[in-house]
Amino acid sequence: MQLIDGKAIADIIKQEIAVEVATIKSMGQRPPHLAAILVGHDGGSETYVAHKVKACEQCGFDSTLIRYEDTVTETELLAKISELNNDTAIDGFIVQLPLPKHISEQKIIEAIDYRKDVDGFHPINVGRTSIGLPAFVSATPAGIMELLKRYGIATAGKHCVVLGRSNIVGKPVANLMIQKAYPGNATVTVCHSYSADLVEQCQKADIIIAALGQPNFVKGNMVKDGAVVIDVGTTRVPSTTTKSGFKLTGDVLFDEVAPKCSYITPVPGGVGPMTIVSLMRNTLLAAKKELFK
Ligand code: GUN
Repeated sequence: MQLIDGKAIADIIKQEIAVEVATIKSMGQRPPHLAAILVGHDGGSETYVAHKVKACEQCGFDSTLIRYEDTVTETELLAKISELNNDTAIDGFIVQLPLPKHISEQKIIEAIDYRKDVDGFHPINVGRTSIGLPAFVSATPAGIMELLKRYGIATAGKHCVVLGRSNIVGKPVANLMIQKAYPGNATVTVCHSYSADLVEQCQKADIIIAALGQPNFVKGNMVKDGAVVIDVGTTRVPSTTTKSGFKLTGDVLFDEVAPKCSYITPVPGGVGPMTIVSLMRNTLLAAKKELFK
């Protein structure tokens, strides 16, 4: 069993990006600039956004954090998005999800100029990605593809089971795994809460991508020998053994599953750091204006 070290790969990619940013600056141009909108004080969102701001520093980017209380109106948020869309000093921006119930996430996502949508959530980016056109690929699926590539994991003709059908992970990663490309060319089955044969599908899988958000869902008996397991889960489970009072827990019961795998991602330190670094990459692409001409 080989552990897929997302943290180490993410550190290498951040270094690669920093080198490119240094070149941009040496030519007298300003560095890439990412803005993030954070609404409310959800612990998970606060942590993710703090990691994104820190990664910007490590890559040599400028960053701007825009905060709102969770009483902000949809109209106020839409006005800020319009301002950022038109601000030539901002290359890309994200609105951290989830948003409070009174705000339509879909309306917010669709208000973002797709050329600045470095999260890759806008329907134009989702659609372009799904037919293999240049686009901002959503960060978590892009991070998973990069891990498969950097570890040279074979995907062509493999049976890949995706657990979960979210717009952010399940659907786009399933789509990428069927693209005529490497990584890709896999036979993909997407399982979800209505799947009657989820366990049997997993038992047949060469590659399992678990993105259900249900801690420790994938057990040892669900995985065949030699499988590749990618764990996207990051649920904060209360814990008495950590200073923070919680433990970041994946969708895979690691101790049972890991001994059976050829490769497996840990939580934390697997997919998470790759998600952040994919956002950095998209921001660099946005600054270079190479995707959409
Ligand atoms: N919430 C959970 N993951 C993400 C993400 O990748 N981007 C944004 N904007 N919000 C999230």
